[in-house]
Amino acid sequence: MIDMRVDICGVKWKNPVAAAAGTFVAAESGKYYDPNLPGAVTTKGVSLAPWPGNPTPRVAETYGGMLNAVGLENPGVDAYISGELKYLKERGVTVIANVAGHSADEYCAVVRKLSETDVDMLELNVSCPNVAAGGMAFGVDRNAVGELTGRVRKLTDKPVIVKLSPNVTDICDIAAAAEDAGADAVSLINTLVGMRIDIRSGKPVLANVTGGLSGPAVKPVAVAMVYRVAKRVRIPVIGMGGIMTGADAMEFLLAGASAVEVGTAALLDPNALPRIIEELDVCVAGRSAAQIHGSKTGWG
Ligand SMILES: Cc1cc2nc3c(=O)[nH]c(=O)nc-3n(C[C@H](O)[C@H](O)[C@H](O)COP(=O)(O)O)c2cc1C
Repeated sequence: MIDMRVDICGVKWKNPVAAAAGTFVAAESGKYYDPNLPGAVTTKGVSLAPWPGNPTPRVAETYGGMLNAVGLENPGVDAYISGELKYLKERGVTVIANVAGHSADEYCAVVRKLSETDVDMLELNVSCPNVAAGGMAFGVDRNAVGELTGRVRKLTDKPVIVKLSPNVTDICDIAAAAEDAGADAVSLINTLVGMRIDIRSGKPVLANVTGGLSGPAVKPVAVAMVYRVAKRVRIPVIGMGGIMTGADAMEFLLAGASAVEVGTAALLDPNALPRIIEELDVCVAGRSAAQIHGSKTGWG
């Protein structure tokens, strides 16, 4: 194995591959591999109070990917801190807490609680609907992203990653708003809005009607967005969207990402993360560090 350590906003990852939010269940993954093996683990979006999530069906298969409308079901931040976070930190895992909210106040309340813990990094999921803006996602409005990031920045010493939505006119503009407001890094992409219809019933397959598309089908979109955002901002970019192999991860690093997250692949194959880390090791060994253009942190 070659040295693949990276420094993301002052946090040392043992390799540049993290689990993506909503696709890693600590106790389940632990049955397959040591949860301390990935560079970091991003946990499921956590809100102030428990959220019940959406009615079922919540997931559907598509060519080259899947749709999900889980609706950020989670037990609330207090249960998260005493449960999943404690479990992962006891095992020495570098943990990124993915934060959800329906108002800026709610995000801030969650961040205040997480700041008192030993969580390593915070990732703001700005794809949540903003109740004060009639349910429009925070992430589609540069002012809303800037204001939320600025408020969170003042509240915490933890590195703040803003996770960008691809369902916007210009993702670079939103990334720049996050950077200007003090984000330490951006991560992208969250899922693309998608829909399937059952032709027998004529009804949507998902109870929520639309859902988020993820998996290999979105990868070229994600690589292009990472490439453009990495050219625009000076902070580290964490890339994701359809990574199934080490070669896919390498594409994101060459597009300018400092690290990657893996989601849907782990739902298909519980051993995807350790496999991708091994495959990336082979890809990196085949290139010299100097050839990895755009990496803002470099290797080692
Ligand atoms: C079942 C499922 C649940 C997800 N939950 C979250 C979440 O809680 N917070 C978040 O920011 N993104 C969530 N995502 C988005 C992923 O973290 C990731 O951004 C997206 O799926 C693209 O990566 P992938 O193609 O590797 O899955 C979820 C994705 C899936 C498939």
